[in-house]
Amino acid sequence: MTVLALIIAAYAIALLFVPAMRAPFLRERFAIIPLAAYLHLAGSGIALAIGPFQLNARLRSRFLRVHRWMGRTYVICVLLGGTAALALATTSQAGLPTHVGFGLLAALWLFATGNAYRYIRAGDRVLHRRWMIRSYALTFAAVTLRIYLPLSQVAGMPFDAAYQTISWLCWVPNLIVAEWIILRQRPGASIVEPSSVVLMVAALASFGCKSKPDAPEKAVPKESVPPAGVPVVQTVSGDAECRGAAIEQAPNVRWVADKSLSADLTYDGAADRVYWGTGGDTAFVVAIVECAAGKPGRIWAFPLRARAMYGTTDLEISLVNPAFGQGYFAENCLGAETTADCRKLGELNTRLEAAYQRGGRGLQIGIPDRDNVHLYWDSVANTFVTWRP
Ligand code: HEM
Repeated sequence: MTVLALIIAAYAIALLFVPAMRAPFLRERFAIIPLAAYLHLAGSGIALAIGPFQLNARLRSRFLRVHRWMGRTYVICVLLGGTAALALATTSQAGLPTHVGFGLLAALWLFATGNAYRYIRAGDRVLHRRWMIRSYALTFAAVTLRIYLPLSQVAGMPFDAAYQTISWLCWVPNLIVAEWIILRQRPGASIVEPSSVVLMVAALASFGCKSKPDAPEKAVPKESVPPAGVPVVQTVSGDAECRGAAIEQAPNVRWVADKSLSADLTYDGAADRVYWGTGGDTAFVVAIVECAAGKPGRIWAFPLRARAMYGTTDLEISLVNPAFGQGYFAENCLGAETTADCRKLGELNTRLEAAYQRGGRGLQIGIPDRDNVHLYWDSVANTFVTWRP
């Protein structure tokens, strides 16, 4: 992929400097809309050359600063190359079908790249990565087009019909492949236990907090990535108080009344209950209530800033191995295992893996393919830890 991309990128750049290489139609474009022609070849050529290095996870984690600067360059190049492509599409050879095919490709290219940029600015690496995969699948149309076109001519197809078909064929299958790659990389895919099916057991009415308060309010440890504010921890002493307190903590939240998840989330051998609800399109709350007899009655409410969660209807909450998972660790620390941050991450990973071996579980909360938060109990720090993949 990289070699093909570099060859086509070099071809585009060569066309900028060697007018004799330009086909007659391209000379015409340079004569009529020179700005679009120059910007398209320069911007798109550089974006095509940069892309493969940006998508490489090893390079990304090893040279993060370079990744950032190349990423900014890619976005600017797509902005220039894509805007120019919109202009070129209106004059492309073979008529309306290619105007629409290339025009749509240009619009989607700008849209996908803009989304990738927007999500990384918002700190959402998962969605950033997905939109970058889509963006580069569209960039790669420059390569697929130049594979299909000679093939169509060798096969003896009339140029116009072939060009009209290829103006679509060069990018639609690329997008399908991109979606397939994204589905394969769904967060949690490598760490969700097949056997850890969500246990939807009791009704909200069946709260049963029994014992005395004991609630240290701990700060979220440094290595965690809190999705929102620090959780509110409130002590409670009896059944009614326990239930009321959970509701009181977030009066605007519509709690899911008929489902709860039961699991030993604090790894102490006694079940905890998880309830969830939403205050609208953006505010989403999980309450973890330690209910089992003999345990201190505590409520941990996590207000999550989750722009992708619309209500609770398509929300997925499942129990998972609390360890970060090799995928996450490798992605973030590959080649940097000796740095302080990665050492801490590695230690936390080891603790959580040990908790899992003892029967502990973590929560994975998310909307498939959109947003995902992991919530785990760190028994050494004695607090919940959250991270977003
Ligand atoms: C992905 C969005 C892209 C769109 C919508 C697009 C669109 C177009 C259009 C409409 C033309 C004029 C074709 C004609 O008049 O028949 C063109 C030409 C050209 N484009 Fe793109 N393009 C895109 C990406 C790229 C990329 C990434 C490269 C990188 C090498 C590239 C390189 C070229 C070159 C070299 C030409 C001149 C034609 C040739 O000699 O092959 N384009 N493009």
